[in-house]
Amino acid sequence: MRNKNLDNKSLYIRQTFTKEYAELGEAFINKEKYLIQISAEEGKLLGLFIKMNNIKTIVEIGTLYGYSSILMARALLSDGHIYTIEKNNEYADIAAQNFADFKVDDKITLMRGNGLDQLKKLEAHSPFDMIFIDADKASYTDYLDWAELHIRQRGLIVADNTLLFDTIYLKSSPKWLSEKSWHNMKDFNARLANESKYYSMLIPTKEGMTVALKL
Ligand SMILES: C[S@@+](CC[C@H](N)C(=O)[O-])C[C@H]1O[C@@H](n2cnc3c(N)ncnc32)[C@H](O)[C@@H]1O
Repeated sequence: MRNKNLDNKSLYIRQTFTKEYAELGEAFINKEKYLIQISAEEGKLLGLFIKMNNIKTIVEIGTLYGYSSILMARALLSDGHIYTIEKNNEYADIAAQNFADFKVDDKITLMRGNGLDQLKKLEAHSPFDMIFIDADKASYTDYLDWAELHIRQRGLIVADNTLLFDTIYLKSSPKWLSEKSWHNMKDFNARLANESKYYSMLIPTKEGMTVALKL
């Protein structure tokens, strides 16, 4: 989020295209986990997807302090809505306050609890226009099982961290990473790379962001 570690290329992009997004992110830097939230540039990309694809309904798994939800809410049309799921109550409390402070609470429903349990409650509202996965990596294929059933045709499935901390292309899982998460993420990307079902790309952001348009 902060500018001080950016190289010249990234600094140019930030100053030219994402200054406002980065400034909004500054509101979160005193929080312990802010480094795991998306970057301003990834937020702008999500906003671009929303505007390009007439997205009105979004399900987000992994709210944290609400930075990505707020950026997506700002890009949505006035009748758009986001359902965002967070299992950690302390983070959810902070996100709820942020949604009110940034005046987007009317566009966001914050759901507290485990992702898979909360997703079941959303089935009556499906199909959704976009599903953004940014939570526990070991569950990405479970979230994808749900997303495949509840995304509309031409809707978007988007997921962050899909380079899995630069391990996804290694021959085997490194010792410090759970083998389950590593295999899971490889399956996840392989499923979304299926050209008979999706038009998709793994965007080489720092963490990797997979974006798939359902055909
Ligand atoms: C990377 S952070 C989300 C960042 C947020 N999307 C942003 O960019 O501002 C991941 C969040 O997922 C939450 N999380 C992890 N496992 C979860 C689960 N099983 N169900 C719901 N939330 C979960 C964590 O508590 C954490 O707040």
